[in-house]
Amino acid sequence: MIRLLNAGLTYNAGNLYEKKVLSDINLEIGDNETVGIIGESGCGKTSLIKLINALLLPTQGRVLVDGLDAKADKRALAEIRKKVGVLFQLSEEQVFEESVFREVAFGLSSGAADSADVRKKVSASLEMAGVKDAAILDRNPFTLSSGMLKKIAIASIIAYDPMIYIFDEPTTGLDRAGRDAFWEIIKVLKEKKRTLLIISHNMDDIYLHTERLLVLEKGRLLEDGPTPEVFETLSTRKDFCENVPDALRLRHYVRDNFKISWDGKSVRELAALLSGRVGI
Ligand SMILES: Nc1ncnc2c1ncn2[C@@H]1O[C@H](COP(=O)(O)OP(=O)(O)O)[C@@H](O)[C@H]1O
Ligand SMILES: [Mg+2]
Repeated sequence: MIRLLNAGLTYNAGNLYEKKVLSDINLEIGDNETVGIIGESGCGKTSLIKLINALLLPTQGRVLVDGLDAKADKRALAEIRKKVGVLFQLSEEQVFEESVFREVAFGLSSGAADSADVRKKVSASLEMAGVKDAAILDRNPFTLSSGMLKKIAIASIIAYDPMIYIFDEPTTGLDRAGRDAFWEIIKVLKEKKRTLLIISHNMDDIYLHTERLLVLEKGRLLEDGPTPEVFETLSTRKDFCENVPDALRLRHYVRDNFKISWDGKSVRELAALLSGRVGI
């Protein structure tokens, strides 16, 4: 369980570059929830998740992960890092080992570094992340394409399988097949009852794959609720209505123009329904 109690963050507090980026965030995320996080660039999404994995400590309020408070108890830090796996926006910044094998095995018990068990976990994690080429194990991650590097970073989190997974714009820069593969991973993690937090600018993906949605605006939590309801609310707001999922926009359109009530979540689904109606 993740809890933010009136949490806030100011960068460079007390000097010329002081900048308040998060204020008064109150939030409780239970185990096994799949939560989307959206908001304009610069609104504080990445800062928020850095508070949750204790990469940054709040300058206001408290952040608790399973009751552990990294600010009050420095020993809690390592525990929190073990519980929370984060895929950062730029995989280049989180990959640091000299081979793919070592990178993916890094979070596994270091004592048994080359055991059969570790090797099995590494290849299973790579496979789940969509990497099937065994020859890649010896490659230097930095010689790989950015799409492949992202998969390696995902595999390294899957390998140690934290209870909480956070993905910061995971599908940016991926092609259609890569995006589909990512959402397949999410499906598996949901089945394993992990807590999932996903930052994305793709509203259709968020609509389709998350149950709860947080909307940040200038460092404040503007909305927090079931994803369909939050998007309904946003669709009535002038400054946000451009940002609602296509499927929701179409739902309103067919309701208002054709008196068709449809509550599905994907455009593909609606297309199938409509083509059935008109018999094509
Ligand atoms: N290390 C930092 N020092 C100072 N300001 C920062 C730092 N990191 C981010 N910021 C600023 O904090 C704000 C929120 O950034 P961020 O959390 O990355 O937003 P988002 O992920 O929603 O784009 C932005 O204005 C950004 O420029
Ligand atoms: Mg960001």
